Amino acid sequence: MGYECPMRRIAFMNQKGGVGKTTTVANLGAAFAERGFKVLVVDNDPQANLTTHLDPSIEEPTPTIYDVLTGQVTASEAIYETSQPGLSLLPSGIDLSGAEIELVQEMGRETLLKRAIDEHVLRLPDEDRYDFILIDCPPSLGLLSLNALTTVTEVMIPIQTQYFAMRGMSKLLEVVELVKKRLNPMLRLSAIIPSIADLRTKLTAEVLSEIRSYFKDKVCRTMIRVNVRLAEAPSHGKSILEYDKSSNGAKDYRRLARELLGALTEDDLEDIEWFELRLCGEPIEFDDLPAAVPEVAPVAPIPLPDEPRPPDNVVGGAD
Ligand SMILES: Nc1ncnc2c1ncn2[C@@H]1O[C@H](COP(=O)(O)OP(=O)(O)OP(=O)(O)O)[C@@H](O)[C@H]1O
Ligand SMILES: [Mg+2]
Repeated sequence: MGYECPMRRIAFMNQKGGVGKTTTVANLGAAFAERGFKVLVVDNDPQANLTTHLDPSIEEPTPTIYDVLTGQVTASEAIYETSQPGLSLLPSGIDLSGAEIELVQEMGRETLLKRAIDEHVLRLPDEDRYDFILIDCPPSLGLLSLNALTTVTEVMIPIQTQYFAMRGMSKLLEVVELVKKRLNPMLRLSAIIPSIADLRTKLTAEVLSEIRSYFKDKVCRTMIRVNVRLAEAPSHGKSILEYDKSSNGAKDYRRLARELLGALTEDDLEDIEWFELRLCGEPIEFDDLPAAVPEVAPVAPIPLPDEPRPPDNVVGGAD
Protein backbone atom coordinates (compact mmCIF):
# COMPACT_ATOMS: atom_id res chain seq x y z
CA MET A 1 0.00 0.00 0.00
CA GLY A 2 3.03 2.29 0.30
CA TYR A 3 3.63 4.79 -2.48
CA GLU A 4 7.09 4.91 -4.06
CA CYS A 5 6.02 7.26 -6.80
CA PRO A 6 3.03 9.42 -5.96
CA MET A 7 1.31 9.59 -9.34
CA ARG A 8 -2.01 7.98 -8.60
CA ARG A 9 -5.57 7.86 -9.87
CA ILE A 10 -7.92 6.61 -7.18
CA ALA A 11 -11.70 6.12 -7.05
CA PHE A 12 -13.41 6.19 -3.66
CA MET A 13 -16.32 3.80 -3.82
CA ASN A 14 -18.93 2.13 -1.68
CA GLN A 15 -22.48 1.76 -2.86
CA LYS A 16 -23.55 2.15 0.74
CA GLY A 17 -24.44 5.81 1.36
CA GLY A 18 -23.03 8.07 4.06
CA VAL A 19 -19.85 6.10 4.77
CA GLY A 20 -17.43 9.01 4.32
CA LYS A 21 -16.51 8.84 0.61
CA THR A 22 -16.95 12.55 -0.05
CA THR A 23 -15.43 13.56 3.29
CA THR A 24 -12.40 11.41 2.50
CA VAL A 25 -11.91 12.76 -1.03
CA ALA A 26 -12.17 16.37 0.17
CA ASN A 27 -9.92 16.05 3.19
CA LEU A 28 -7.41 13.51 1.93
CA GLY A 29 -7.12 15.63 -1.21
CA ALA A 30 -6.52 18.69 0.99
CA ALA A 31 -3.95 16.77 3.07
CA PHE A 32 -2.02 15.73 -0.05
CA ALA A 33 -2.19 19.28 -1.41
CA GLU A 34 -0.92 20.65 1.91
CA ARG A 35 2.15 18.48 1.48
CA GLY A 36 2.88 20.19 -1.83
CA PHE A 37 1.35 17.66 -4.18
CA LYS A 38 -0.83 18.72 -7.07
CA VAL A 39 -4.25 17.15 -6.61
CA LEU A 40 -7.36 16.99 -8.77
CA VAL A 41 -10.56 15.95 -7.04
CA VAL A 42 -13.42 14.88 -9.28
CA ASP A 43 -17.02 15.15 -8.14
CA ASN A 44 -18.63 12.23 -9.95
CA ASP A 45 -21.84 12.31 -7.92
CA PRO A 46 -25.09 14.13 -8.86
CA GLN A 47 -25.52 15.01 -5.17
CA ALA A 48 -22.55 17.36 -5.76
CA ASN A 49 -21.56 17.20 -2.09
CA LEU A 50 -17.86 17.40 -2.86
CA THR A 51 -18.42 20.52 -4.93
CA THR A 52 -20.35 22.34 -2.21
CA HIS A 53 -17.89 21.07 0.40
CA LEU A 54 -14.96 22.74 -1.34
CA ASP A 55 -16.64 25.74 -2.94
CA PRO A 56 -19.42 27.49 -1.02
CA SER A 57 -19.70 30.22 -3.66
CA ILE A 58 -21.06 27.70 -6.14
CA GLU A 59 -24.82 27.85 -6.56
CA GLU A 60 -25.29 26.15 -9.89
CA PRO A 61 -21.79 25.59 -11.19
CA THR A 62 -21.27 25.63 -14.94
CA PRO A 63 -19.64 23.96 -16.65
CA THR A 64 -19.66 20.71 -14.68
CA ILE A 65 -18.64 17.10 -15.13
CA TYR A 66 -22.00 16.61 -16.86
CA ASP A 67 -20.97 19.01 -19.63
CA VAL A 68 -17.66 17.16 -19.88
CA LEU A 69 -19.27 13.71 -20.12
CA THR A 70 -21.75 14.91 -22.73
CA GLY A 71 -18.93 16.44 -24.78
CA GLN A 72 -20.07 20.05 -24.49
CA VAL A 73 -16.84 21.27 -22.90
CA THR A 74 -13.40 19.81 -22.25
CA ALA A 75 -12.29 18.83 -18.76
CA SER A 76 -9.76 21.70 -18.93
CA GLU A 77 -12.64 24.15 -19.32
CA ALA A 78 -14.51 22.77 -16.31
CA ILE A 79 -11.67 22.24 -13.82
CA TYR A 80 -10.65 25.11 -11.57
CA GLU A 81 -8.46 25.73 -8.50
CA THR A 82 -10.16 25.71 -5.10
CA SER A 83 -9.22 28.14 -2.33
CA GLN A 84 -6.57 25.67 -1.21
CA PRO A 85 -3.38 25.91 -3.26
CA GLY A 86 -2.67 22.76 -5.23
CA LEU A 87 -6.22 21.43 -4.96
CA SER A 88 -8.25 21.56 -8.18
CA LEU A 89 -11.86 20.51 -8.61
CA LEU A 90 -13.92 19.11 -11.44
CA PRO A 91 -17.35 20.11 -10.08
CA SER A 92 -20.68 18.37 -10.34
CA GLY A 93 -24.27 19.57 -10.44
CA ILE A 94 -27.81 18.29 -10.46
CA ASP A 95 -27.71 17.77 -14.27
CA LEU A 96 -25.58 14.73 -13.67
CA SER A 97 -28.52 12.84 -12.22
CA GLY A 98 -29.90 12.36 -15.74
CA ALA A 99 -26.56 11.32 -17.20
CA GLU A 100 -26.83 7.61 -16.49
CA ILE A 101 -29.94 7.41 -18.68
CA GLU A 102 -28.90 9.99 -21.28
CA LEU A 103 -25.51 8.41 -21.90
CA VAL A 104 -26.73 4.86 -22.21
CA GLN A 105 -26.74 5.01 -26.03
CA GLU A 106 -23.40 6.78 -26.24
CA MET A 107 -20.51 4.95 -27.95
CA GLY A 108 -17.83 4.02 -25.44
CA ARG A 109 -20.06 5.17 -22.61
CA GLU A 110 -17.95 3.42 -19.95
CA THR A 111 -14.85 5.44 -20.80
CA LEU A 112 -16.21 8.97 -21.27
CA LEU A 113 -14.58 10.26 -18.09
CA LYS A 114 -11.29 8.47 -18.76
CA ARG A 115 -10.98 9.99 -22.22
CA ALA A 116 -11.81 13.47 -20.93
CA ILE A 117 -9.31 13.25 -18.06
CA ASP A 118 -6.59 11.69 -20.22
CA GLU A 119 -6.95 14.44 -22.78
CA HIS A 120 -6.79 17.10 -20.05
CA VAL A 121 -3.74 15.57 -18.38
CA LEU A 122 -1.88 15.16 -21.67
CA ARG A 123 -2.26 18.82 -22.44
CA LEU A 124 -0.90 20.00 -19.09
CA PRO A 125 2.66 21.31 -19.00
CA ASP A 126 4.96 19.10 -16.89
CA GLU A 127 4.98 21.50 -13.93
CA ASP A 128 1.18 21.38 -13.71
CA ARG A 129 0.83 17.58 -13.86
CA TYR A 130 -1.23 16.10 -11.05
CA ASP A 131 0.31 13.81 -8.47
CA PHE A 132 -3.12 12.55 -7.44
CA ILE A 133 -6.51 12.34 -9.10
CA LEU A 134 -9.17 11.38 -6.55
CA ILE A 135 -12.68 10.56 -7.75
CA ASP A 136 -15.70 10.75 -5.47
CA CYS A 137 -18.33 8.22 -6.55
CA PRO A 138 -22.08 8.14 -5.95
CA PRO A 139 -23.54 5.47 -3.65
CA SER A 140 -24.42 3.18 -6.55
CA LEU A 141 -22.77 0.90 -9.07
CA GLY A 142 -24.19 2.47 -12.24
CA LEU A 143 -22.62 4.07 -15.29
CA LEU A 144 -21.02 6.93 -13.35
CA SER A 145 -19.20 4.52 -11.05
CA LEU A 146 -18.23 2.43 -14.05
CA ASN A 147 -16.69 5.53 -15.63
CA ALA A 148 -14.69 6.13 -12.45
CA LEU A 149 -13.44 2.54 -12.52
CA THR A 150 -12.13 2.83 -16.06
CA THR A 151 -10.41 6.13 -15.27
CA VAL A 152 -8.37 5.00 -12.26
CA THR A 153 -5.87 2.31 -11.39
CA GLU A 154 -6.88 2.06 -7.75
CA VAL A 155 -10.08 1.73 -5.78
CA MET A 156 -10.24 2.64 -2.13
CA ILE A 157 -13.29 1.74 -0.08
CA PRO A 158 -14.21 3.77 2.97
CA ILE A 159 -16.15 1.50 5.34
CA GLN A 160 -18.04 2.88 8.29
CA THR A 161 -17.41 0.71 11.33
CA GLN A 162 -21.09 0.06 11.96
CA TYR A 163 -23.54 -2.83 11.60
CA PHE A 164 -24.02 -3.98 8.00
CA ALA A 165 -20.67 -2.45 7.04
CA MET A 166 -19.87 -5.45 4.85
CA ARG A 167 -23.30 -5.75 3.30
CA GLY A 168 -23.10 -5.37 -0.48
CA MET A 169 -19.33 -5.63 -0.39
CA SER A 170 -19.18 -8.80 -2.48
CA LYS A 171 -21.19 -7.09 -5.24
CA LEU A 172 -18.81 -4.13 -5.23
CA LEU A 173 -15.76 -6.42 -5.42
CA GLU A 174 -17.42 -8.38 -8.21
CA VAL A 175 -17.90 -5.20 -10.25
CA VAL A 176 -14.27 -4.17 -9.66
CA GLU A 177 -13.10 -7.61 -10.82
CA LEU A 178 -15.33 -7.49 -13.89
CA VAL A 179 -14.06 -4.05 -14.91
CA LYS A 180 -10.49 -5.24 -14.36
CA LYS A 181 -11.10 -8.25 -16.59
CA ARG A 182 -13.02 -6.54 -19.37
CA LEU A 183 -12.05 -2.87 -19.45
CA ASN A 184 -9.15 -1.89 -17.22
CA PRO A 185 -6.50 -4.53 -16.44
CA MET A 186 -4.56 -1.99 -14.34
CA LEU A 187 -7.36 -1.73 -11.80
CA ARG A 188 -6.85 -2.99 -8.24
CA LEU A 189 -8.39 -2.62 -4.84
CA SER A 190 -5.63 -0.85 -2.93
CA ALA A 191 -7.07 0.16 0.46
CA ILE A 192 -9.95 -0.11 2.86
CA ILE A 193 -10.36 2.99 5.00
CA PRO A 194 -12.13 2.53 8.35
CA SER A 195 -14.25 5.66 8.62
CA ILE A 196 -16.52 7.44 11.09
CA ALA A 197 -15.11 5.15 13.77
CA ASP A 198 -16.35 5.67 17.30
CA LEU A 199 -13.53 4.28 19.40
CA ARG A 200 -15.74 4.28 22.48
CA THR A 201 -17.95 1.44 21.34
CA LYS A 202 -17.38 -2.29 21.32
CA LEU A 203 -19.27 -2.45 18.05
CA THR A 204 -16.44 -0.56 16.31
CA ALA A 205 -13.93 -3.16 17.54
CA GLU A 206 -16.13 -6.01 16.38
CA VAL A 207 -16.80 -4.57 12.92
CA LEU A 208 -13.15 -3.62 12.49
CA SER A 209 -12.08 -7.14 13.31
CA GLU A 210 -14.56 -8.48 10.74
CA ILE A 211 -13.25 -6.06 8.11
CA ARG A 212 -9.65 -7.02 8.89
CA SER A 213 -10.28 -10.72 8.76
CA TYR A 214 -11.80 -10.28 5.29
CA PHE A 215 -9.50 -7.69 3.71
CA LYS A 216 -6.34 -8.45 5.73
CA ASP A 217 -3.47 -5.97 5.15
CA LYS A 218 -5.49 -3.89 2.70
CA VAL A 219 -7.14 -2.27 5.72
CA CYS A 220 -5.45 1.02 6.60
CA ARG A 221 -4.02 1.23 10.09
CA THR A 222 -5.26 4.80 10.25
CA MET A 223 -8.84 5.07 11.41
CA ILE A 224 -10.89 8.15 10.69
CA ARG A 225 -12.55 8.81 14.01
CA VAL A 226 -15.97 10.31 14.52
CA ASN A 227 -15.33 14.01 14.69
CA VAL A 228 -17.98 16.69 14.67
CA ARG A 229 -15.59 19.15 13.01
CA LEU A 230 -15.54 16.93 9.93
CA ALA A 231 -19.32 17.14 9.75
CA GLU A 232 -19.26 20.92 10.22
CA ALA A 233 -16.55 21.74 7.67
CA PRO A 234 -18.71 21.27 4.51
CA SER A 235 -21.21 23.91 5.56
CA HIS A 236 -18.29 26.38 5.75
CA GLY A 237 -17.10 25.36 2.30
CA LYS A 238 -13.71 24.37 3.67
CA SER A 239 -11.62 21.26 4.04
CA ILE A 240 -10.98 20.22 7.63
CA LEU A 241 -7.42 21.53 7.31
CA GLU A 242 -8.74 25.03 6.65
CA TYR A 243 -11.70 24.77 9.01
CA ASP A 244 -9.99 23.37 12.12
CA LYS A 245 -6.45 22.27 11.52
CA SER A 246 -5.89 20.98 15.06
CA SER A 247 -9.06 18.85 15.24
CA ASN A 248 -8.90 15.07 15.42
CA GLY A 249 -10.42 15.03 11.94
CA ALA A 250 -7.49 17.03 10.54
CA LYS A 251 -5.02 14.78 12.36
CA ASP A 252 -6.65 11.64 11.04
CA TYR A 253 -6.72 12.77 7.42
CA ARG A 254 -3.11 13.98 7.61
CA ARG A 255 -2.17 10.62 9.10
CA LEU A 256 -4.08 8.79 6.36
CA ALA A 257 -2.16 10.82 3.76
CA ARG A 258 1.12 9.82 5.43
CA GLU A 259 0.09 6.17 5.53
CA LEU A 260 -0.83 6.16 1.84
CA LEU A 261 2.55 7.71 1.11
CA GLY A 262 4.30 5.05 3.16
CA ALA A 263 5.41 7.75 5.59
CA LEU A 264 3.84 6.92 8.96
CA THR A 265 5.95 8.31 11.79
CA GLU A 266 6.87 6.70 15.10
CA ASP A 267 4.32 8.98 16.73
CA ASP A 268 1.65 7.84 14.29
CA LEU A 269 2.36 4.24 15.22
CA GLU A 270 2.20 5.10 18.91
CA ASP A 271 -1.13 6.87 18.43
CA ILE A 272 -2.50 3.96 16.43
CA GLU A 273 -1.45 1.61 19.22
CA TRP A 274 -3.33 3.74 21.74
CA PHE A 275 -6.45 3.70 19.62
CA GLU A 276 -6.24 -0.08 19.36
CA LEU A 277 -5.88 -0.34 23.13
CA ARG A 278 -8.83 1.93 23.52
CA LEU A 279 -10.87 -0.30 21.21
CA CYS A 280 -9.91 -3.36 23.25
CA GLY A 281 -11.55 -1.70 26.22
CA GLU A 282 -8.41 -0.75 28.14
CA PRO A 283 -9.06 2.29 30.31
CA ILE A 284 -7.01 5.30 29.26
CA GLU A 285 -6.42 8.34 31.41
CA PHE A 286 -6.42 11.62 29.53
CA ASP A 287 -2.95 12.40 30.90
CA ASP A 288 -1.64 9.17 29.41
CA LEU A 289 -2.60 10.09 25.88
CA PRO A 290 0.23 10.49 23.44
CA ALA A 291 1.56 13.92 22.53
CA ALA A 292 0.43 15.65 19.38
CA VAL A 293 1.72 14.07 16.22
CA PRO A 294 4.57 16.18 14.82
CA GLU A 295 4.33 16.65 11.09
CA VAL A 296 7.20 15.37 9.00
CA ALA A 297 7.24 15.25 5.24
CA PRO A 298 9.82 12.71 4.13
CA VAL A 299 8.21 12.24 0.75
CA ALA A 300 6.71 15.66 0.16
CA PRO A 301 8.26 18.24 -2.14
CA ILE A 302 7.73 21.05 0.40
CA PRO A 303 8.14 20.97 4.19
CA LEU A 304 5.14 21.54 6.43
CA PRO A 305 4.96 24.08 9.23
CA ASP A 306 4.85 22.58 12.74
CA GLU A 307 1.37 21.53 13.70
CA PRO A 308 0.26 23.40 16.85
CA ARG A 309 -0.32 21.23 19.90
CA PRO A 310 -4.09 20.70 20.14
CA PRO A 311 -5.97 21.60 23.27
CA ASP A 312 -8.21 18.56 23.07
CA ASN A 313 -6.18 15.50 22.37
CA VAL A 314 -8.91 13.05 23.22
CA VAL A 315 -9.65 9.74 21.68
CA GLY A 316 -12.98 9.21 19.92
CA GLY A 317 -15.41 11.84 18.85
CA ALA A 318 -15.34 14.06 21.85
CA ASP A 319 -13.95 17.27 20.33
N1 LIG B 1 -15.41 11.04 10.64
C1 LIG B 1 -16.58 11.66 10.65
N2 LIG B 1 -17.09 12.11 11.82
C2 LIG B 1 -18.31 12.72 11.84
N3 LIG B 1 -19.07 12.93 10.76
C3 LIG B 1 -18.63 12.49 9.58
C4 LIG B 1 -17.35 11.84 9.46
N4 LIG B 1 -17.15 11.52 8.15
C5 LIG B 1 -18.25 11.95 7.50
N5 LIG B 1 -19.13 12.53 8.34
C6 LIG B 1 -20.45 13.07 8.02
O1 LIG B 1 -21.27 11.96 7.67
C7 LIG B 1 -22.09 12.27 6.55
C8 LIG B 1 -21.81 11.31 5.41
O2 LIG B 1 -20.46 11.52 4.97
P1 LIG B 1 -20.11 11.61 3.43
O3 LIG B 1 -21.00 12.58 2.74
O4 LIG B 1 -18.65 11.84 3.32
O5 LIG B 1 -20.47 10.13 2.99
P2 LIG B 1 -20.63 9.58 1.52
O6 LIG B 1 -20.21 8.15 1.57
O7 LIG B 1 -19.96 10.45 0.55
O8 LIG B 1 -22.21 9.67 1.32
P3 LIG B 1 -23.01 9.46 -0.05
O9 LIG B 1 -22.99 7.99 -0.30
O10 LIG B 1 -24.39 9.97 0.21
O11 LIG B 1 -22.30 10.22 -1.13
C9 LIG B 1 -21.81 13.72 6.21
O12 LIG B 1 -22.76 14.54 6.87
C10 LIG B 1 -20.42 13.96 6.79
O13 LIG B 1 -20.22 15.31 7.15
MG1 LIG C 1 -20.73 11.39 -1.16
